[in-house]
Amino acid sequence: MRVFNFAAGPSTLPLPVLEQAQKELLDFNGTGMSITEMSHRGKPFMAVNDEANALLRELMNIPENYSVLFVQGGASQQFAAVPMNLLQKGKADYILTGNFAQKAYEEGCKYGDMAVAASSKDANYTFIPDMNQVKFRDDIDYVHFTYNNTIFGSRFTELPKTDATLVTDMSSCILSEEVDVSKFGLIYAGAQKNIAPAGVTIVIVRKDLLGKHMAITPTMLRYDIQDKNDSLYNTPPCFPIYVSMLVFRWLKAMGGVKAMQKINEEKAKMLYDFIDNSSFYTNKVAVKDRSIMNVPFVSPSEELDAKFVKESTAACLVSLKGHRVTGGMRASIYNAMPIEGVKALIEFMKKFEMENK
Ligand SMILES: Cc1ncc(COP(=O)(O)O)c(C=O)c1O
Repeated sequence: MRVFNFAAGPSTLPLPVLEQAQKELLDFNGTGMSITEMSHRGKPFMAVNDEANALLRELMNIPENYSVLFVQGGASQQFAAVPMNLLQKGKADYILTGNFAQKAYEEGCKYGDMAVAASSKDANYTFIPDMNQVKFRDDIDYVHFTYNNTIFGSRFTELPKTDATLVTDMSSCILSEEVDVSKFGLIYAGAQKNIAPAGVTIVIVRKDLLGKHMAITPTMLRYDIQDKNDSLYNTPPCFPIYVSMLVFRWLKAMGGVKAMQKINEEKAKMLYDFIDNSSFYTNKVAVKDRSIMNVPFVSPSEELDAKFVKESTAACLVSLKGHRVTGGMRASIYNAMPIEGVKALIEFMKKFEMENK
């Protein structure tokens, strides 16, 4: 029996995608073998690689002057790859809105003169700084920010106001809402939340930024090399790329990102409305900055939080335990979480509140 899986990542995948992958696991397209058993240079896999790339371009409306790369090392590898590829003047500013933004900043500091332009750390990352107030240094190569904060459940709704190149980590929100790619120099995202199993990371980079890497940049981290080789410089993570292609097909059939955004907003609204109307559950994030992907909440006590996690698991609503740095609960409601899952969670929350008030 399948459960409703609210894990933050790796996370739930669309059922039709899993069924398709299962069906093709012994024989992909009449080859008599699975996609994981064949050469990445052969026609069948090259076709998958090309289709995944083309579908992502279509779904995100990615302009021609951007390169789409499928790389390895997770989003964390990008914390180093970004400065190594983009620093020209040697300076970049970071906005700190959560643990991953902090990690990106700390990694970046190894390669250049990095500064914190704004941070909500003192308020436990419960808000996104006001973009009208945040000022950046002159002569910086880029501004880095985390579009959606997976652990703390916040999201940017406005872009930093600067002429500098914008770099953003969209690991936990890529394809969940429409974004204008042309506003960014670079977008990166680990796949294991909204796209595929862990193992592949998406990098969308404006082509004029290619080829400006530091001399010491490892070959595997060079965007220009990955671009020239259609992300096939070395053996790629074939299975995650294949599942990405299936998820992109599924998303297109669902009506694309615009339609998915509508569903995501509806799911998030249902959950936040319920939490806000209850005197039992609390979400601490500033209302305007709330994530539509990750919804952290607490009950009146840590004991009740632990009981909630135990009993919800028994009710087949799993992985609701909050991140170790926040405690409490967190419901990750990515694209693949059906609306029925959110309704079932709310019903459970109502029942739990009645029994424990
Ligand atoms: C926003 C964000 N950035 C970066 C990471 C790190 O990703 P990875 O584990 O793929 O390196 C995560 C992982 O959860 C994340 O949510």
